[in-house]
Amino acid sequence: MKSADQMYPHIPVLNREVLAYLKPIRDGKYLDATLGAGGHAEAILAASQPTGLLLGLDIDQNAVIIAEERLQKFSSRVTIFNVSYIEMQDCLRKMDWSCVDGILFDLGVSSMQVDAADRGFSFNKEGPLDMRFNDHSDFRAYDLINNWSEEEISSILWNYGEEPKARAIAKAICIARPIKTTTQLAQVVLSAYHGSHSKIHPATRTFQAVRIAVNQELTVLEEGISLGIKQLCAGGMIAVISFHSLEDRIVKEIFKRESKDCICPPEQPVCTCDHKASLKILTKKPATASDEEIRINPRSRSAKLRVAQKIG
Ligand SMILES: C[S@@+](CC[C@H](N)C(=O)[O-])C[C@H]1O[C@@H](n2cnc3c(N)ncnc32)[C@H](O)[C@@H]1O
Repeated sequence: MKSADQMYPHIPVLNREVLAYLKPIRDGKYLDATLGAGGHAEAILAASQPTGLLLGLDIDQNAVIIAEERLQKFSSRVTIFNVSYIEMQDCLRKMDWSCVDGILFDLGVSSMQVDAADRGFSFNKEGPLDMRFNDHSDFRAYDLINNWSEEEISSILWNYGEEPKARAIAKAICIARPIKTTTQLAQVVLSAYHGSHSKIHPATRTFQAVRIAVNQELTVLEEGISLGIKQLCAGGMIAVISFHSLEDRIVKEIFKRESKDCICPPEQPVCTCDHKASLKILTKKPATASDEEIRINPRSRSAKLRVAQKIG
């Protein structure tokens, strides 16, 4: 019989650490905001036997189909919705849950999404310029690459990819238009580098930036984390795994703000904000993958896990 890892090519990252912080229990209610192939969800359900409940959300219909199959053995203990996590309040209302004991956000793309050439996430695989998590959305990478101005493209490459050659790449893109495929775009980026680049493929940052822009990932993340904190029961845990510094910065800042009693500017002598701390940060430094995990799953190399606990 095949193991879960053989059947589902996406290996959950930092799974042991997530369980150590969430500490799932039999009476617990858990929200997996980014269900993917359901690897983390499966572990949470197994650890909260026999009665722990899990609500799983994913904006990608394909992910939901895979997760449903994987998690069917838990029958009524698991409910799955094909929605963005910014719709979590609605989902909790449908479940009649007033709060949850643990929330997990495992950000970025899954291996299944990267491996599917027709999704357009990979510069190594010939495919259409798509990159949408949600295939009901009508804005694709193609539209951004072929219709946005040179300045707009340069700005997203700089802001979302931290790409030092943002201007040169944006110019090369505009000259080469129309660009229809992933490999065509990767070639254009390569041409802007004139052959001098490090081991990392120069298209890595461009693809990250375009994906973030197509899915508005950073705005959605900010909203999602803030909503997630509100849905936690007292003592509940929020755990976020991020894969690049832009995501990690957002998580770190929100956790920091929500762990303070006052968020007035430091130069203000008297507090006027009435802000009350709602979180206790449990990871002063983010947890990262062990050498052993990186060896088994190289995708874990850049993962950072931050966890906080709801107080009050
Ligand atoms: C890294 S994968 C999650 C893997 C999963 N934890 C597992 O163990 O298999 C990230 C998932 O988040 C999903 N996603 C991205 N943006 C989302 C959003 N706004 N709402 C819900 N899911 C989202 C993606 O479709 C993808 O399946």
